[in-house]
This record gives sequence, structure tokens and C-alpha cells, in this order.
Amino acid sequence: MTDTTVDFSPAAAPLAEKLLGQATEILARYPAGRERSALLPLLHLVQTVEGHVSPNGVAFCAEILGINKAQVGAVATFYTMYKRRPTGEYLVSVCTNTLCNTLGGQEVYDQLSEHLGVGHDETTGDGRITLEHAECLAACDYAPVVTVNYDFALDEATPEAAVGLVEKLRAGESYTPARGARICSLKEMQVQLAGFADPREGAVGDGRAGAPTLRGVTLAQEHGVAVPNFNPDTPITKTKPSPREESKGTVATVVDKVKSAVTSHAGKPVKAGDAKDPEVRTAQQRNPDASTPDETGDAKATPPAPSNPAEAAGASANQPAGDGKPAGDTARGSEEAK
Ligand code: FES
Repeated sequence: MTDTTVDFSPAAAPLAEKLLGQATEILARYPAGRERSALLPLLHLVQTVEGHVSPNGVAFCAEILGINKAQVGAVATFYTMYKRRPTGEYLVSVCTNTLCNTLGGQEVYDQLSEHLGVGHDETTGDGRITLEHAECLAACDYAPVVTVNYDFALDEATPEAAVGLVEKLRAGESYTPARGARICSLKEMQVQLAGFADPREGAVGDGRAGAPTLRGVTLAQEHGVAVPNFNPDTPITKTKPSPREESKGTVATVVDKVKSAVTSHAGKPVKAGDAKDPEVRTAQQRNPDASTPDETGDAKATPPAPSNPAEAAGASANQPAGDGKPAGDTARGSEEAK
């Protein structure tokens, strides 16, 4: 795709005018012919302008990728981080999943809902806050947790602290969370989610893992359980070879084995898997010559001998019914015959 190959429709043109440069940059990250994989960051890019994905945003993504709008819509409606209607400046997510709920997450959500006068996925009249309950936010060690625009805003949240948080946000006061990055607007957050560095000061939070996260390590140390050379302050390296690179030798060995196995079987007949319906297979084992049961239903076919003692015990306790089948067989055939 180049900017000369797409003739944008009136619906997509306004977004194309603003976003074409960044969109082209995103597409360039993907191998030629695989650009449609760029749909996820492109949808975030659309949200940097719109705050949600409107029909115009769908048209823009579809046209720049050369796919149809239904394909874009299928993705945009699948992931909850793509909003399909206007969303507030601050998306307040309260985890109500198992651990957070046990520790009061639902009370936090309920209090916020009552205080703001909105329910799940609804926005306050001033357009500042959208409330949602969220599934696990991957911070169970700080449960219950509240995020604002996907940054951790409240750890071990209480209903009172949550109300205080949203009031500060509505008043336009800056809010510094206990950990993580400085709270930004939802549109600003989409810049990072689209894969671009955010130049704002404090846009990226970092720091040492907190005590709740390290609780397991602390306990291990207290009890003398140690992993040689483990250092919790070890920085995360960005140059570590990918697992695929690291295991290249192993992968090559496996591939070689598969190749040699294929070669050694070349020209020999391959035994196909048994794709028969299990009931057909069982019937054939019971009655290999397909003889017709007599009118009393007292089948003459002899079932195969049980292959182990447990099966033998089960077979003896499961005497044939009048139709020649063991009593435990399904009634599928008789149901179909009705
Ligand atoms: S259950 Fe709430 S963060 Fe995991």
C-alpha cells in the first residue's frame, strides 16, 4: 500500500488526511502481503482521533488494508479495548473478577456506579468518565484494582478511594497513581497502543516490583528456598534471543528426524487413521459378519472378548438388553428411527 494506491471514500477521507502517515508506518512493520495483520494497531490509531471506532474508522481501516468492512467490524467488536461508541476521557475499569471480587471489587464498582449515575460501559453526562467492570487486570497481588485508561490507578481499592479518584479526574486535577505511568487521556493512551512512543513526560512508568508482587520471593528467602543467581532487580533485557533462535538446534534436530522418517517411508503404503463412527466400529466388532438378529432380538453375534480384567468385570455386570445391545448403549439409533 502506498498513499497513491488508495482512493479513500468520503467516509474514510477525513481520517486518512490525519492518519495516513502513521498508518503507513504501521503497515511497513509487516511483511509484504501480510499487511492485514496491522488491523489491531490501526484500530488503536483510529481511536487516537475518535476515542472510539466509528463507521468512518471502520471504513478507513478497511480501505487502507484492502479488506471489507465486515472483516474490520468482526475484529473491532471482538476485543473490548475497541470501543464502538463515544467513550469518556477517562475509562475507569474496576476488576470484578474472582480475586478482586472476593476482596471487595464489586463494592468498589457498585459505589462508583451509584456515585457517577452510570452503569457498565456508560459515560457520565460531562463526557469525562466511562465506567466498566473488567475481567482480571493481571494485578491480583494488589486486589482489588482499578485502572484508568489501562494504567494501574488504585491498588487495594476501597469504594471511598475510588470515588476520590474519579472526582479528581472530573475536576481536571492531576492524579499520580501509586505505581505505573502518569494518568493520561484515553486518546493519548491509544498512541502507545498503536505502537508509537509517547513523548509526554511520565508517559511510561517503570520501577521495581512492589512488596505484594514479591511476596512469594520474600517467603522463599525467609524459608531458605533459593534459586541460584536469582536477582529480582535484574533489568529486563531487550536483546535476548527469541525462543526460536535459542532452540534452533533443537528445532533443526526435530525437523531432521521428521524428514528422515518421511524419507524412510517413501513409497510405502501409509495406513490411514480409522475415521469410522465409533458406534459403527463397535457394531462391526460385535457382529463382524453383519448377521441379522433373530426376531426375538436375542443376538447370536458374540461380542469380542474383554481385553483386561476390569473390562471383563464391566461386561459381566452389563448384560445384553433385548435388542442385542448392552444396556448402557446409547439410544441414538432408536431415536433416529422414530
Ligand atoms: S482478579 Fe482482579 S486483577 Fe486478577
